[in-house]
Amino acid sequence: MSVIDVHTHVYPPAYMDLLRSRNAVPYVRSFPDDPAAGDRLVILPAEDTPSTFRGRPIGPEYYDIKEKISFMDAHGIDISVISLANPWLDWLPPSSASETARAINDDVERVCAESGGRLYAFGTLPLSAPAEEVVAEVARLSKLKHMRGVIMGSTGLGSGLDDPALEPIWGALEKCEQLIFLHPHYGLPSSVYGPRADEYGHVLSLSLGFPLETTIAMTRMFLSGVFDRFPNLNVLVAHSGGTLPFLAGRIESCIAHDAHLKKGGISKKRRDLWEVLKKNIYLDAVIYNEVGLSAAIAASGADRLMFGTDNPFFPPLDPEEPVWPSVTLNSYAVEGAVDKREDREAIMGDNARRVLRLPG
Ligand code: URA
Ligand code: ZN
Repeated sequence: MSVIDVHTHVYPPAYMDLLRSRNAVPYVRSFPDDPAAGDRLVILPAEDTPSTFRGRPIGPEYYDIKEKISFMDAHGIDISVISLANPWLDWLPPSSASETARAINDDVERVCAESGGRLYAFGTLPLSAPAEEVVAEVARLSKLKHMRGVIMGSTGLGSGLDDPALEPIWGALEKCEQLIFLHPHYGLPSSVYGPRADEYGHVLSLSLGFPLETTIAMTRMFLSGVFDRFPNLNVLVAHSGGTLPFLAGRIESCIAHDAHLKKGGISKKRRDLWEVLKKNIYLDAVIYNEVGLSAAIAASGADRLMFGTDNPFFPPLDPEEPVWPSVTLNSYAVEGAVDKREDREAIMGDNARRVLRLPG
């Protein structure tokens, strides 16, 4: 069985230089009041405070490609489809976004080309730039040999994925047959975590904020009719779709019972969410348990799930531990949830090979 990891991140050296040059989120620095903590990666909006969640340690596993290959070897991963980690280029000034995107995408393409077939990638879009520049980068990426789509957050051009200004970009992605890897970053407003949030480290924002952000972004995209206007657009949704597989029935029921939508707020000829889940949506298998994985398979089908690790996030807390439980939890979930051998092989690698046109 070959294993392909579709959810695995890097910060290429050019991006690390940008992070080290900054003092506002996102940035990398050490803190004089806590020198033992070493360099910290501070990327999430809520973690820029002296708290139990002030960034996370950052070492070469985030930017040294040799570390990625060693991680793959240690965990039996044949091919990785790498992507820039959040918050991508969302925060760049419009004037430098396209040039930076081209430099980073070219850097990643070169790393893949030098990997002897082990690495492919999702490119990054300059989403703070004018839409026509984003469209140009989509077209350029589709000609790079190792690029297999684009990674994108939930804010789109700044107003979310139901923004009409995104239409030319959806059109370009559909025309160039580029898969969108939709990944969270912003979570939920920190007020929802309450006055005791500091007692819970990163748990609430990563286990709940991330998947709910993804679920809301996808639902807005769906409600605004994007999948009716771009029926061949394909989205790989991170973390097994957030909570979309679990909540799709409730979303459809709320649509059916909404008087405003009945009056014309939504197309009568719309495709329903169950159809979109089976025709336009792929889900990664980064859910760490067979209960969630079974819901994802029930919603989209075993032919639309793809194994992932989220490396280098979620390292073992014991640095001597060679095998990462954040990886084995996902592979054990596939073994536990899926009866047929060919379905297990599909999720672990064959689906990614087919959908992303990978060799082997
Ligand atoms: N935390 C992040 O900020 N990004 C990930 O991809 C995973 C965890
Ligand atoms: Zn991730």
